[in-house]
Amino acid sequence: MIIKNGVLVREGGTFKSDIRINNGKINKIALQIFPDKGEQIIDAEGKYILPGGIDAHTHLDMPTADCCTSDDFLTGSYAAIMGGTTTIIDFAECEVANKLQEGLDTWNKKANHNSYCDYGFHMTLSCWDNTMEQQVKSMIEQGITSFKAYTAYKGVMGVDDASLFKMMECIQEVGGILCVHCENGDVLEYLQNKYKKINPQDIKNHPLSRPNLVEKEAVSRVLDISNMTGAKVYIVHVSAKESVETIALSKQKGQTVYAETCPHYLLLQDNMYNLPNFESAKYVMSPPLRKKEDNSTLWNGLRKKIIDTVATDHCSFKFKGQKDIGKSDFTKIPNGVPGVEHRVQLMITYGLENGMSLDEIVNVISTNPARIFGMYPQKGVLLEGSDADILIINLGKENKISASTSVQQTDYTPFEGFTSRVKIEDVFLRGNHIVKSGGIHLKNPLGKYIKRNILL
Ligand code: URP
Ligand code: ZN
Ligand code: ZN
Repeated sequence: MIIKNGVLVREGGTFKSDIRINNGKINKIALQIFPDKGEQIIDAEGKYILPGGIDAHTHLDMPTADCCTSDDFLTGSYAAIMGGTTTIIDFAECEVANKLQEGLDTWNKKANHNSYCDYGFHMTLSCWDNTMEQQVKSMIEQGITSFKAYTAYKGVMGVDDASLFKMMECIQEVGGILCVHCENGDVLEYLQNKYKKINPQDIKNHPLSRPNLVEKEAVSRVLDISNMTGAKVYIVHVSAKESVETIALSKQKGQTVYAETCPHYLLLQDNMYNLPNFESAKYVMSPPLRKKEDNSTLWNGLRKKIIDTVATDHCSFKFKGQKDIGKSDFTKIPNGVPGVEHRVQLMITYGLENGMSLDEIVNVISTNPARIFGMYPQKGVLLEGSDADILIINLGKENKISASTSVQQTDYTPFEGFTSRVKIEDVFLRGNHIVKSGGIHLKNPLGKYIKRNILL
């Protein structure tokens, strides 16, 4: 099959080219490819050709204290691929903290034959004992080369600094990378209790108990521990301008640190916590939404390469029946928002509006996550020999984002009414034409587990 006459987007720019797909791989890229007898041709004149999106931060089928995320692998990955994401990295959780293999087996079962896009897992580490080093090595052998720690959620998944230090020592030694959720758990818990006493129903207490410096303090501490241990770290869902400044300083000093933000931190603000009728619960995620200055510092961070990736932290709950678990206590509102379906459209539309070029956008939604998480050049780039994970997009085709036209399993989207100026017309996963002219074409989930490499 040949995709003809499109404009390819790759690091450094765009160029007009034909692209041949053979056996699931990109077989040839050239200005003009002449078809073999009977070879299928797709005309992409006037369209852009991008590598499939990679969302390195999703929580599908994840149990929480009182419920479970509303998207499982089937529905979440369907939404992902419809929106131009061909690979996700989901967070595998362990029911028993020090039994990593059990957690991995559970997540493999959830995803196997149920995913429309390719997938990998980060393994969550919520404790550290003398069995963990061996277990981490076993994970790496199975292609799980990234791990996750929480400095918040005390008593559930949160870890103390000594455990964090030991994790990083081990991860450095084996060549993995540690993703960290950065918030000061002690301070935010104290503030939550303080505000709960005053008015437990007021959702404004959510951002009040998690101010910018609660995040920045943990970012700074985690970067120092990473500096002491030499471990590579990836700071997930950066939201505060002070965190961006702290990360920039570490990068300037040559530390290997990567940073991620999410569309909601780039495009929404904390006025969403003033809505009537419990509507603000739709925007309860951690860290919380911030201010316009934080939005613009994050955009600047993307342009200056201080922020490396944009992922969704897709952690969907229904407004009716799930978010309302926290109606009488803001600390019980399930934390998280949906986003996997709209990330690519939002980032192309608003990235261009905020001074990023198309190839810079492709870097943060696809190429950089592939590099950071050991999938490059199999994924994240249009190169001969890479997997044929390909998007054909129509720039300038305007539509409105709405829950009523979305396929992800939530009854709302935080981006309701946002304009998208791009249509994801065709999506190929390893050469399989999954989405055709904006609609699902191949109905069976063909996603495969991606065994990832360590970073050298
Ligand atoms: O509120 C959020 N972000 N929920 C998902 C879990 C996490 O902290 O990443
Ligand atoms: Zn988190
Ligand atoms: Zn998350």
